[in-house]
Amino acid sequence: MKTLEWIDTPDGGLVRLIDQTRLPNETVLLDCTDLATLAEAIRMLRIRGAPAIGCAAAQGIAMVASRSKAEDGAALLAELGRARDVLAATRPTAVNLFWALDRMMAKAEELAKSGVAGKEFVRALIDEAVAITEDDLDRCRRIGKHGAELIPGGANILTHCNAGALATAGYGTALGVIRAAHEAGKRIHVWVDETRPLLQGARLTAWELQQEGIPCTLITDNMAGYLMQQGRVDCAVVGADRIAANGDAANKIGTYSVAVLAHHHGVPFYVAAPFSTVDFGLACGQDIPIEERNPDEVALLAHLATQPACPVGVRIYNPAFDPTPSDLVAAIITEVGVIRPPYRQALDAAAPRE
Ligand code: MRU
Repeated sequence: MKTLEWIDTPDGGLVRLIDQTRLPNETVLLDCTDLATLAEAIRMLRIRGAPAIGCAAAQGIAMVASRSKAEDGAALLAELGRARDVLAATRPTAVNLFWALDRMMAKAEELAKSGVAGKEFVRALIDEAVAITEDDLDRCRRIGKHGAELIPGGANILTHCNAGALATAGYGTALGVIRAAHEAGKRIHVWVDETRPLLQGARLTAWELQQEGIPCTLITDNMAGYLMQQGRVDCAVVGADRIAANGDAANKIGTYSVAVLAHHHGVPFYVAAPFSTVDFGLACGQDIPIEERNPDEVALLAHLATQPACPVGVRIYNPAFDPTPSDLVAAIITEVGVIRPPYRQALDAAAPRE
């Protein structure tokens, strides 16, 4: 099963994705044949996770090109520019979204400059979007391989949110490390933070691990400290939505709390992410834009309840991410290897020159 997939159709193409809001109860595929449907899917977390939304946005640009009725190259480029702006406005924190959109727009401009037009132009953009998606899968496998070496046999690993196959083109970043450790026969067990308010841990990570037969136990977010106090967590591995140049890493809200707890208890806290998640343009985590989402996500207990779990009208604050300072991060696991502090120099030295 693929998180998302490009499908050629007689009238152009479409982006097919698993609607993650329906998991774990139903596996429903959503075919996005227009920009508005895809943008809504990203905004509402039908597809979510930093690398996955980058891949979806790249395929979205290809989809718009494949269905365009623009009369000439300049009009088509202008249409793609508008599509880029719509997709860029869906979610602010994951830098992979902007990275993928920039790469698609650079490709479109390069093709136009070299006089490539018509069907050839569209095919080249589709190929670029598919390449971004395949490349993400490859990066995740490499992250898994490098990260598995950090996981001791028999480890109890805590993870937060979903940084799994569903959050990427496949395999996952943090769950990629966990998958690879399991595949290596390390007899691991995973503590899965449920991840309030939208329960990506409970709905998606527990589902993925169960499908793979990886032993796991679901806990509420406020149980992690107690488990660490009892010595029942050997390491924590999480993903990231954006890593600043100094190694500070924004991830799902609650990740910072896990990092602080891990630090207090001497538990190594690892961040697993591809270089497409590193934003060298931002000096530190405090500069990372933090998405604030609809209060209903807190009030309605992640779509599971129709009755609010709080008094109607109470003020709700619903930030979706938090930055973890890099001094709490034992290592950043990337596709090119495990990066250790000092992160500013180490990330810069390890960054693939693309
Ligand atoms: O709001 P979400 O579900 O998109 O948040 C996702 C996360 O925080 C993930 O941990 C992150 O994107 C890394 S995914 C490999």
